[in-house]
Amino acid sequence: MAESPQTLPDYAEMAALVDPQVTHRLPDIGRLVSLPQTTYTLLTLLMDERSQAEDLVKVLSQDPALAAKVISLSNSSFYSLQQPVSTLDRAIMVIGFKELEFMAMGLGLSETFDLSKVPQGFDGEGLWLHSLSVSFIARELAILSKATEPSEAMITGLLHELGLIILVSKFPGQFQQLMELLSAGMPFYEAEAALGLRHDVIGYLLARNWNLPLVFQAGILFHHRPKEATSFKAMAALVALADILAHKIGYSLQMESLDVDLPYTLTTLGISPTQLQNLIKELMVAIPQAHPLWLQMMRSGQTKNRGLRSKLSSFLEQDGGQARKH
Ligand SMILES: [Fe+2]
Ligand SMILES: [Fe+2]
Repeated sequence: MAESPQTLPDYAEMAALVDPQVTHRLPDIGRLVSLPQTTYTLLTLLMDERSQAEDLVKVLSQDPALAAKVISLSNSSFYSLQQPVSTLDRAIMVIGFKELEFMAMGLGLSETFDLSKVPQGFDGEGLWLHSLSVSFIARELAILSKATEPSEAMITGLLHELGLIILVSKFPGQFQQLMELLSAGMPFYEAEAALGLRHDVIGYLLARNWNLPLVFQAGILFHHRPKEATSFKAMAALVALADILAHKIGYSLQMESLDVDLPYTLTTLGISPTQLQNLIKELMVAIPQAHPLWLQMMRSGQTKNRGLRSKLSSFLEQDGGQARKH
């Protein structure tokens, strides 16, 4: 969907909204917290619409630990296969390219962000399940609406709560203060704005530090305020709608309240109310079914640090800065 000009808010302007103790550390976090090398490669692969199943197998084959996890998950009872899967080629045949790319990205991210050690009283698994469900729904919405690339929607969905993930894992003191305001009854958006901890803005700033493609940055920044997007409107509306749908089917983040204009997101994406109802029915079956597999994915992603890390920015530079023409 052509949208121009494709610009996003100025870094300094957005950083001014955030607690300086957080903004000062973001560039360092951007350097220190990095995605596994294979995840970078997958990210680039998934953004290339010419890529095929063989390319995915090739990338995974170069990372035996990840390949083993993918094969092991393919054999989970979720797929109820007659014959066990022992190779990537077979895994792709029986569970499909779409499922495999989702699994590989999910595993890479769960390895990067260990949400099993989060401040007391916060549901790290809930945040992970929320991110995966929004990612899953975002891809379905992209397929239905044809408004964005399905793989891009999937990745943006996975990353849309990046700011919250960083707050929880890197700024426990500030996060604790936020939890205290929430327990005192202050609404979430008010509390995070009052403390300079807006998670949409923090996620955006980190995505910029990582030099992620603009479409991801936009999805992260506008996931609660899609109407404020002046470019990448379709992605902003799509992630916001996926967030609402995750909420509807019981995969919300309890702390967040969603006051997004649903009709606006539907109009922007060209989705009719009937199509929406049908999708909700499908999601209400598909997501609870995938839930045990996702938990397994998260836990196996966190079992081992495979090494092979480097900076996302340097990887994307090798790829010509922006992996695609955004
Ligand atoms: Fe959010
Ligand atoms: Fe969300």
